[in-house]
Amino acid sequence: MPRLEFNHRPVLLWESIDALDIKPDGIYADCTAGGGGHSFEIVKRISSGHLFCIDQDEEAIEAVKKRLASFEDRYTLIRANFSEAEQIFKNISLDGALMDIGVSSHQIDDPRRGFSYMQDAPLDMRMDKDKSFTAADIVNGYEETRLADILKRWGEEKYSRRIAAAIVNQRQIKPITRTLELVEIIESAVPRNYRLSGGHPAKRSFQALRIEVNHEIEILTPTVEALVDRLAVGGRIAVITFHSLEDREIKQAFNGLSKGCVCPSDFPVCVCGRKPKIKVFKPVVPGEIELQDNPRAHSARLRYAEKLPGPYENAD
Ligand SMILES: C[S@@+](CC[C@H](N)C(=O)[O-])C[C@H]1O[C@@H](n2cnc3c(N)ncnc32)[C@H](O)[C@@H]1O
Repeated sequence: MPRLEFNHRPVLLWESIDALDIKPDGIYADCTAGGGGHSFEIVKRISSGHLFCIDQDEEAIEAVKKRLASFEDRYTLIRANFSEAEQIFKNISLDGALMDIGVSSHQIDDPRRGFSYMQDAPLDMRMDKDKSFTAADIVNGYEETRLADILKRWGEEKYSRRIAAAIVNQRQIKPITRTLELVEIIESAVPRNYRLSGGHPAKRSFQALRIEVNHEIEILTPTVEALVDRLAVGGRIAVITFHSLEDREIKQAFNGLSKGCVCPSDFPVCVCGRKPKIKVFKPVVPGEIELQDNPRAHSARLRYAEKLPGPYENAD
């Protein structure tokens, strides 16, 4: 099958560029380079600075390479998981880091990747094709209660138990290997009115499988903490999320890092010596024009923060 043109419209583009407050000589990290939409606007604004573009998907890396071709010496491409940020930026002080979390439109639209409940494809959903664990392994391998738990936890699917039971029933006949097979099983498991009201009945289950395959949520807080540690004083971190699970995680990570003293309230003086590492700004959501123009922007939210001067702990 021929390769699809990389097609992804960046969400909250200008808002995240403003949030990063880019300096021409700054060092930046786009941890989810995707189609290079945000990277392009960052790299345009730096002259003597540098941009590190990370993505775990080799097709994204190829797309960014093409998109940024005219800025050759201003950026470095790194195919990696952003959970490796601590190691990648071990000796680098960043002026800004961006995460635009989740899947790209390109990944969803490519029928070979198995992210979409609208197109028939192998049950795959890996963002990093070098990994071997796929959605088919979950659907055919997880024990029924574990399957129901991930549908509930990562998909907030209220019919998780019914769907898990239907999957287990079906896979006893033969393994479930295709996306549309799974869609049919989900549709048969949920009540008729659920099928007809509000969104596709497979949407939440597909989200849950995708999150489980790619370990999307559990890596967020450690990555934000590692990036904040690598930020120079005054440096910015900006994170775009697309659903409440991701957003909650980022909000809590920011809250933790922006907290000062954690001594019990009845202590007369602070003994922990803990100081906030970041100052958090008000979250930003897309404006009317972007919402009209790009349906994907509907659930998007940008959270950003600035690194404060240390020290952040007692020296002893
Ligand atoms: C929403 S898209 C980013 C789009 C990009 N900002 C643009 O304007 O084109 C998300 C990208 O992040 C990548 N990604 C998601 N989780 C990742 C992770 N843990 N490590 C590295 N890349 C990741 C995906 O492969 C995808 O290409």
